[in-house]
Amino acid sequence: MKPNIPDFYNNLDKIYIKIWDLLEAGFKNRDAPFHIPVFICTNNNSADGRVVVLRGVSKEDKNLWFHSDIRSRKIKFLNNNPIGTLLFYDKEEKVQLRIIGKTKVNYKNDTTKRSWTNTGHMSRQCYLGEKAPGSKVISPTSGLTEKIDNYKYSIEDSEIGYENFCVVEFFIQSIEWLYLAAKGHRRAFFTVKNSSVEKNWLIP
Ligand SMILES: Cc1cc2nc3c(=O)[nH]c(=O)nc-3n(C[C@H](O)[C@H](O)[C@H](O)COP(=O)(O)O)c2cc1C
Repeated sequence: MKPNIPDFYNNLDKIYIKIWDLLEAGFKNRDAPFHIPVFICTNNNSADGRVVVLRGVSKEDKNLWFHSDIRSRKIKFLNNNPIGTLLFYDKEEKVQLRIIGKTKVNYKNDTTKRSWTNTGHMSRQCYLGEKAPGSKVISPTSGLTEKIDNYKYSIEDSEIGYENFCVVEFFIQSIEWLYLAAKGHRRAFFTVKNSSVEKNWLIP
């Protein structure tokens, strides 16, 4: 059987378009593999990754963002070193993206106000724990009261979660593309330079 070769296979411009199509689909479609990338950042001597939900994408500004708890460990890491990686993989598309960027942690500003207003009743539950995520406890717990665990709180009650809510913006510096194909893999590297993007092939 002849392998199916997509039109972006040997074309850097088309790959770049495909990257943004996949990212936008990841933001809009909760079932898309790109909806939940791994976000990696570093402390002094260690690197750590965790899954996050892609909450927004701007092709124009070349940035992405996700929500988090300001008390979480990743935010402490980012205060030391704002550079991180977002790692995406789509099995069907056979595409891996490693995106390096500089983060900005938004807290109690217009960006967080906008995002918090759009954060639904159920999603706000994540920000209603009294103790910081990752705190040591003596017995197993969700960290929430029974009422909050059972969604027995009003949208007004949930407003207190805004104290813990932040939006991590991720300004893209480079994107590494890997496409796995039986006919031969393809790897490409995109460097964001102010308003332009430099595009190069790499050995896979
Ligand atoms: C499917 C899924 C989605 C998640 N989405 C987020 C998210 O959007 N933001 C977030 O801070 N943590 C999210 N988490 C939890 C993180 O993976 C992680 O456990 C948590 O943020 C604590 O990480 P830290 O201690 O490194 O800060 C998600 C976990 C899973 C499994």
